Amino acid sequence: MKTLGETILSVRNLSTVFDTEYGVVKAVDGVSFDLRRGETLGIVGESGSGKSVTNLSLLRLVPEPPGRIASGEILFKGRNLLEGDEEDMRLVRGSNISMIFQDPMTSLNPLLRVSLQIAEALQLHHGLDRKAAERKAVELLTSIGIPDAETRAYEYPHQYSGGMRQRAMIAMAISCGPDILIADEPTTALDVTIQAQILELIKSLSAEKTMSVIMITHDLGVVAGICDTICVMYAGRIVEKAPVDELFADPRHPYTRGLLDSVPRVDLAGGRRRLYSIPGSPPDLVDLPPGCPFRPRCDKAMEICGQKAPPEVGFEDRTVVCWLHAQEGKIS
Ligand SMILES: Nc1ncnc2c1ncn2[C@@H]1O[C@H](COP(=O)(O)OP(=O)(O)O)[C@@H](O)[C@H]1O
Ligand SMILES: [Mg+2]
Repeated sequence: MKTLGETILSVRNLSTVFDTEYGVVKAVDGVSFDLRRGETLGIVGESGSGKSVTNLSLLRLVPEPPGRIASGEILFKGRNLLEGDEEDMRLVRGSNISMIFQDPMTSLNPLLRVSLQIAEALQLHHGLDRKAAERKAVELLTSIGIPDAETRAYEYPHQYSGGMRQRAMIAMAISCGPDILIADEPTTALDVTIQAQILELIKSLSAEKTMSVIMITHDLGVVAGICDTICVMYAGRIVEKAPVDELFADPRHPYTRGLLDSVPRVDLAGGRRRLYSIPGSPPDLVDLPPGCPFRPRCDKAMEICGQKAPPEVGFEDRTVVCWLHAQEGKIS
């Protein structure tokens, strides 16, 4: 396993809610995790589990109203980002933590040539003049695998294929040399071959630049080859956190097990013809039942699961929030 650096991001007890006409939606409910330099952390869960809102909260990009960060700390290199002003936050977004999205068109301006968009970021953060910035943009595009970048750099985003746009967005995101790259379902819209190439690109960038990555996905298959650590989210909470190999070899939360059983496995003889799918659907985040939010869908549920919220049970290097394991580990 690769060696990781110091902790650069520490999220403590983060809760983000939306005030809606139906009530308060608890989108993120007491989330805590650490990210170390050079680490790639996967955040996995079904759609609606709070992955995007967690990461938008890190950058304070949750639309406000209806959203608001209700509590918690986001310590970046020891400084609580929730305490700084908007100007501080702009600096952090521009040079320390950058984000790429599923749809590159949310980040790329359709009216500007790609070279210019990347150059603008470089001019802003590195004080380069236009000419030098454009040259650097071409270099950057070449380095992330845009063929014939000298010509293609001067095209508009719509002239690019989906995979190339995703690469251009990554070029923009890494142009300022961020400490952390947040990738929110960056490959969901791409076909599998291109998907693999983009993941490979992100992996090599993180290795070369000792950049940390937060990789958000609903697909455990995506995180297997690229992540060091996985957080599994359900109903706005992290229900299991473990090094990737341990999570795959020995999933402890019934929800994690369900997610894993829903992933096509090439390592099983003959493959699995029929994929499992977890019965039921995620709970209403306005009106969560008492006890464990996964209980109604859990085939291992016990009486206590409907009565009391499950404890976070800690093991040597992993945690699980589940009554099934309450006797085994250390309850925090
Ligand atoms: N602008 C909003 N207004 C109300 N609820 C929202 C808003 N944005 C997100 N949510 C709710 O927050 C929850 C988590 O959403 P999200 O983080 O986008 O899920 P994921 O990324 O895991 O698919 C969902 O239940 C969603 O409906
Ligand atoms: Mg999302």
